[in-house]
Amino acid sequence: MKIEVDQPKLLSEIEALAAISDAEAPAVTRIVFTPTDLKARAWLKVRCQEAALTIREDAIGNTFARWIGSDSKLPAVGTGSHIDAIPNAGKYDGVVGVLGALEAIRALQRSGFHPRHSIELLMFTAEEPTRFGIGCIGSRLLSGTLSLEAARKLKDSDGNSLDEVREKAGFAAKFEAVKLPANYYKAFVELHIEQGPLLEREKIPLGVVTSIAAPASLRITIEGSGGHAGAVLMPDRHDSLCAAAELILAIENSARASGAVDTVATVGICEVFPGAVNSIPSRVHLTADIRDTDLKRRDEVMQTIETAARAIAARRGVAIHSELLNADAPAQCAPAVIDALSQSCRKHNLNFLPMVSRAYHDSLFISRIAPTAMLFIACRNGYSHRPDEYASPEDIARGTLVLAETLAALSQ
Ligand code: GLV
Ligand code: MN
Ligand code: MN
Repeated sequence: MKIEVDQPKLLSEIEALAAISDAEAPAVTRIVFTPTDLKARAWLKVRCQEAALTIREDAIGNTFARWIGSDSKLPAVGTGSHIDAIPNAGKYDGVVGVLGALEAIRALQRSGFHPRHSIELLMFTAEEPTRFGIGCIGSRLLSGTLSLEAARKLKDSDGNSLDEVREKAGFAAKFEAVKLPANYYKAFVELHIEQGPLLEREKIPLGVVTSIAAPASLRITIEGSGGHAGAVLMPDRHDSLCAAAELILAIENSARASGAVDTVATVGICEVFPGAVNSIPSRVHLTADIRDTDLKRRDEVMQTIETAARAIAARRGVAIHSELLNADAPAQCAPAVIDALSQSCRKHNLNFLPMVSRAYHDSLFISRIAPTAMLFIACRNGYSHRPDEYASPEDIARGTLVLAETLAALSQ
């Protein structure tokens, strides 16, 4: 069996999908359930139909495209990722794992291979937290990690509930049916860009992921008192933005102070109310994203942030309230899938680095219900979540080849 990846076709599909965007090229913005996301989904389904895959969508819009195996009752081998993109993103995050998986399936079809276990491409809904505040909504629901009650409470910033939005987008089936039955997948493999600099730095083309770091996020509200920027004297002020500034630095320091390279903390959103040049900020919303490969250390950082928030609130006479949006455990990848990936790399004489994923992925949640691992390809300068994100055609093709080989091995 000779597997040949059609690199030009795969690259032209990546470009075609990048053109379905709400941002001007080279940036890509594709927020879940917007008209642009729905257009991208429709485009992807046509590509899957062209490959003669059997398509199914669940109530949250997770899209399954199955190459039915000779023993169709056996659990499938799954592969895939997401196509939603944060504001001002690049074109590879998630997309490489979806279109790479599709090309891996087509390459296997062209090679004459026939799987015994079905091979299923899975495009997850809302891996990115942009619209509803938490990421991986599709894979959380598939794995039963997010309760239906909690999912129903999710709202976007315009107050639309997830339930309303998904129904409007054409996904009206019962939420209850999203969770996958036990043993649905024999194994799951996600191809993804590394989103960090290690592979490029080490000049190693591929990474085999052995574990995925534990993410957590907080929405923090700081209530001070507003007023006239000229008239309120400095000793009388309770400026919520100044309190937020202190808290942002305390969050950064709490991660730095852990001393571990794997501890990271980011404040990515700061909304100031009323947001007028001559008005003292009365209210600020922040989001904090805190991650670590070590759960205990991650939780200690969160504790330090809470203590800092209490001290700042007392000293500045403001109220600080924080709401935990998510606090997930890390994932250990499955030795059998790590082995299959490693063997496929060796078969094609490709060097690989066993590595940790510091970004989260839908695999974090799928690993709760199926043996899962990931394959990383290098991205230039480690850039991701920005328009100049870039992975070379050769690396994308290599990753796709190893993915195809791995799917073949696991589906026999
Ligand atoms: C996923 O996009 C992440 O933020 O890790
Ligand atoms: Mn992302
Ligand atoms: Mn991603």
